[in-house]
Amino acid sequence: MNSISYFLGGIFLTLWAADVRAQTSKAPFNPYHYTITKNGQFNKAAVASGHPLASEAGVYVMRQGGNAFDAAIATQLVLAVVYPGAGNLGGGGFLIARKTDGKLVGLDYREAAPAAAHRNMYLNTAGNAQTQLSQNGRMAAGIPGTVAGLFATAQHARLPVARLIQPAIDLAEQGFVITAKEAAALNSHKNDFIQYNSVPPVFVKATAWKAGDTLVQKELAATLRRIQQQGAPGFYEGETAALLVAEMQKGNGIITLEDLRHYTVKERTPLEFDYKGHHVIGFPPPSSGGIILWQVMKMIEQYPLAQYGFQSAQAVQLMIEAERRAFADRAAHMGDPDFYKVPVQALTSSTYLQQRMSSFTPGKATRSSAITESRFTESEETTHISIYDAEGNMVSVTTTLNGSYGSKTVVAGAGFLLNNEMDDFSIKPGVPNKYGAVGGEANAIQPGKRMLSSMCPVLVTRHNKPYIIAGTPGGTTIPTSVFQTLVNMIDFRMSAADAVNKPKFHHQWLPDEVYVEKSFSPIVKQQLEKMGYTVTERAAIGRTEVICTNGKQITAAADSRGDDSIAGF
Ligand code: DON
Repeated sequence: MNSISYFLGGIFLTLWAADVRAQTSKAPFNPYHYTITKNGQFNKAAVASGHPLASEAGVYVMRQGGNAFDAAIATQLVLAVVYPGAGNLGGGGFLIARKTDGKLVGLDYREAAPAAAHRNMYLNTAGNAQTQLSQNGRMAAGIPGTVAGLFATAQHARLPVARLIQPAIDLAEQGFVITAKEAAALNSHKNDFIQYNSVPPVFVKATAWKAGDTLVQKELAATLRRIQQQGAPGFYEGETAALLVAEMQKGNGIITLEDLRHYTVKERTPLEFDYKGHHVIGFPPPSSGGIILWQVMKMIEQYPLAQYGFQSAQAVQLMIEAERRAFADRAAHMGDPDFYKVPVQALTSSTYLQQRMSSFTPGKATRSSAITESRFTESEETTHISIYDAEGNMVSVTTTLNGSYGSKTVVAGAGFLLNNEMDDFSIKPGVPNKYGAVGGEANAIQPGKRMLSSMCPVLVTRHNKPYIIAGTPGGTTIPTSVFQTLVNMIDFRMSAADAVNKPKFHHQWLPDEVYVEKSFSPIVKQQLEKMGYTVTERAAIGRTEVICTNGKQITAAADSRGDDSIAGF
């Protein structure tokens, strides 16, 4: 097992921490001294998530008799406390699961546009897009879906939510020590927290945050307690709802009590396709993730990728060209299926995908301007959790606030951050969102509509048996990271840890550029440039969590790019 031990805090902190723990801690993990574990092997169950305390909470509830769904609930709730940049109560997500009996579950708890939202709400009088409004502050928030999602998940779980929420309450109330990465993230957002809140939230401190500082969130603990006592109405009605609406009224927010009361989780039928003897199960619209994954994997399936070699220029070029074509379709055809007819069948038909790749020229870059819209007649911050339990249930959840710390607005008195998911709509045709994605009619704003996502929680079975549970954050890079992780494991036969940690690359049609991580091979970069690609280095791509099983042993791998950590037994 490869683990990195973080000693967070000095002797004073440790002694004080031990005292608090003795009075309160119901879970066996120590919030003041914990370990990040990047990969490991287990016999019964495992969790891989964005934070060690969250993975431990998931394992803890499974040890208490819960299953993977219980773990998904406890892990998400702890993430809402210990990973405020992405874990959330004020955001939304998608959960995909395969139960022991093979039955699939797809839960869509994506945020929705408030009733007062309208197509041009982010345009000024001159008709120009104002992305500062769709990305920051109260007006950027969609109606949160996470809490409703947790209660929908509970229908498949064993333990009461009131019990599953306790670790999160303890961590919010008593505090936990923050990592160096969290300290840096909080410091770099300090001005935003001041700007987008009328009362400075607990994330604002006079001096800079450092690793080992304790973050206590009393107001968040009180909100969690209301949910513990009242269930979902503890969030969508009563005091929490009133605080959220009061927050809206302090500025230009538009979410109302009715919006909150009417929010519902939607059950979605997962998408399924085969790739080289593997069965892949992905999330359908309103995520583009599953369709993109289906398209890119089928576009490359006939090519001998393993023969080309891992991240050889030949293999990378093929994958880039598949990505370019899939993202062109995303922009034109994908949106909330309850408001726009997404031509899923046409987009994923083998004839169409073959025809789409007919313009692919090995050794030469296609221009994005040459990839035109098809017509059919057919009627940085998000976080991922992969879980496998002792009964064989597979659960894959990606949840998001959209940007880091979402809108940066904390609901005063309720202690949770609001998402800035409205920016995932196409706020004006052709105007890029936070992740550079463009769109049009399919993803235009309408009241009640869910904004198009790229999130791509995925499951893979082999011979009808559980094999891989995976997913990642990363905006538009999500489906391409999942694509590369699966190809690394299936075509290049890599271990889960290698598949996750190898350098990633990304193309999204527009802009017509290939993004690569700093660790990407400089030689292959040059070869791609010779073929006519513009290659741009960028910050880390994704934070992928993978659990993989061969039927006997479970291997869990957490991405080395963040504080991600695995746990199991
Ligand atoms: O749903 C989406 O596609 C985006 N809101 C995800 C944002 C994200 O992954 C940010 N993480 N780095």
